[in-house]
Amino acid sequence: MKASAIIVAAGSGVRLGHSTPKAFVPLGGAPLLSYSLEALAHVDGIGEAIITLPSGMESAARTEIRRAGLDLPVKLTPGGAERQDSVRIALALTSALAEIVVVHDAARPFATSANFAGVIAAAARAGAAIAAIPLADTLKQVSEPNLIVGTVPRAGLWLAQTPQAFRRDLLIEAHRRALAAGIVATDDADLVQRLGATVEVVAGATLNFKITTADDLAVAAAIVAARADRSAPSSSNR
Ligand code: CTP
Ligand code: MG
Repeated sequence: MKASAIIVAAGSGVRLGHSTPKAFVPLGGAPLLSYSLEALAHVDGIGEAIITLPSGMESAARTEIRRAGLDLPVKLTPGGAERQDSVRIALALTSALAEIVVVHDAARPFATSANFAGVIAAAARAGAAIAAIPLADTLKQVSEPNLIVGTVPRAGLWLAQTPQAFRRDLLIEAHRRALAAGIVATDDADLVQRLGATVEVVAGATLNFKITTADDLAVAAAIVAARADRSAPSSSNR
């Protein structure tokens, strides 16, 4: 069968500090979640989607699914306490017929359909692949509160993003072992790496950043506004 997509959107967004849960905070007039749904709607080879949600947001999510034209079976589920719990809960709802599962954070509104397609194709070949970008800045080791104690060589360091795609059996085993061993990681690739499986990186994009703070949201809003300007017919052309 086609790949299953998991969109994790159940977080509350404590660091963003908005009264609305992060995935439903407006960005350019649409909830943050809607951007990921739209990207997903244009990916070939997706058979179903599972979305983790904050409580009480099911009907708002259904509206966005329709608006994005996501023409797939979609299951909505409450998330767990941590992101990793949410992924595990969603994973249990994926079809056993899916060979590949692709996981994406709703908090990254600018992931493209090509980002999804890229990791899915690489995972189908190699078992596991994530979007990532090489680190561009110089990395300092700082001892609390503000003293530099070293520079970490940058060569070979990449920033992990989502989407991340895996052979479904591999991701299920990775989450099973993590739960049994009490391991908590900030991404799914880490759990799969702990199995000793190889994970490939596929070129992500600087633009595919995660909205964490109010500053990130302001940057995202500026990007959306600039895009809207570019696509609107200018008054001089009318
Ligand atoms: N997420 C989730 N379930 C959780 C926690 C997070 O589905 N229990 C999702 C978020 O909705 C987000 C993604 O995982 O799309 C990445 O999490 P993060 O950026 O940390 O979002 P929040 O947990 O909402 O933010 P914060 O940590 O600031 O509260
Ligand atoms: Mg969080």
